[in-house]
Amino acid sequence: MKVQVNARNRAYQFECAPGEKILFAGLRNAVDLPYECGSGTCGTCKAKLIEGEIHDPWPQAPGTRLLKSAQGEFLMCQCEPKSDLSIEVANFVYYADPGACIPAFYQGRIESQARLTHDVLAFRVALDAPMDFDAGQFVLAEAPAVRGFRGYSMVNFERRASRLEFVVKKKPGGGFSEWLFDGSVQGAELRLFGPLGKATFYPGLGKNVLCIAGGSGIAGMMSILSRGCQERYFSQYKGYVFFGVRSARDVFYLEALEGFRREFPDNLEITVALSDEPVPEALARRYPGLAFDQGLVHEVAARRMEGRYQNVRAYLAGPPPAVEAAIRMLLLKAKLTTDNIRYDKFS
Ligand SMILES: Cc1cc2nc3c(=O)[nH]c(=O)nc-3n(C[C@H](O)[C@H](O)[C@H](O)COP(=O)(O)OP(=O)(O)OC[C@H]3O[C@@H](n4cnc5c(N)ncnc54)[C@H](O)[C@@H]3O)c2cc1C
Ligand code: FES
Repeated sequence: MKVQVNARNRAYQFECAPGEKILFAGLRNAVDLPYECGSGTCGTCKAKLIEGEIHDPWPQAPGTRLLKSAQGEFLMCQCEPKSDLSIEVANFVYYADPGACIPAFYQGRIESQARLTHDVLAFRVALDAPMDFDAGQFVLAEAPAVRGFRGYSMVNFERRASRLEFVVKKKPGGGFSEWLFDGSVQGAELRLFGPLGKATFYPGLGKNVLCIAGGSGIAGMMSILSRGCQERYFSQYKGYVFFGVRSARDVFYLEALEGFRREFPDNLEITVALSDEPVPEALARRYPGLAFDQGLVHEVAARRMEGRYQNVRAYLAGPPPAVEAAIRMLLLKAKLTTDNIRYDKFS
């Protein structure tokens, strides 16, 4: 089916397969339609139906609260065309930059999984075809047993990756995360769409890098650190990483983080922030290469970064309240420009 998109600056046309989300069809055709979560919560992908008929498999999606449904507004990440369509998008829309990793559909198989803490699990997916992605990007994953796509950020970084690594925090009552935690999902097939997301790091950036992660938000930061270390970026630029969790029993990846730091001890600083308890001495002793502090992660970052924001690009990820608090701090206190604050809200 044909979809005609009238954006603020120009019009685009692309084919959408039956049952395919309009957003996915546009992105797959290198039309950089607006989105953030890709999974029905943020409302960024809103468009207006001008002509034709759409099917909305999840009309209760949280992102619909931002729509004027009576005026034909809908979420492109949820809706599928039932006929040829003409739609309107209020944003400026451009083709993807040359060299950008264009998203596509992949089949994946869960190859392994491992518990990292009482409520965090890592899993690895083998892909049916290699995927190029940028450090900091995510994919949308759909399991046969669970309705709808969920976003997960890649932990690893490699070109033409045949495997993707993820880390997931259990959400009580959550469809996908409970499915991962409950049964033995080894060998389960996933449908993936990606890579997605604009919180990307690339070695040509030429700036000091500040990462602020809450909980599983550390996923994309691991990918950024991998790429930065592979390219020896931190021999020239500073890297400041703040990883926030509630208590000592919630920490994970500390050996790997310490390993990154060992490669660039002069320029890479990694601080673990515990919000709900004082830092146990044994924990600090066990990881002498890392700094530990008590407080919410954005507060700890604000304290330790004071006066060090020159030439900084910030990457933020994790639960929406943590990301929003960090954005406020970086805009109001650090005076970073919006272009230098890249984030993924794990909504
Ligand atoms: C960009 C991005 C990156 C993320 N990266 C990570 C990560 O690396 N690690 C991590 O732990 N979490 C990550 N998340 C959060 C993750 O996507 C899930 O929200 C989280 O794992 C909880 O999922 P759940 O299925 O357990 O909970 P649920 O409450 O069942 O679902 C959560 C989300 O799934 C979607 N959804 C639910 N029901 C439906 C339905 N019927 N039809 C369609 N969609 C539905 C909605 O987006 C909903 O908000 C990320 C989120 C985003 C937006
Ligand atoms: S991108 Fe569609 S609601 Fe977030």
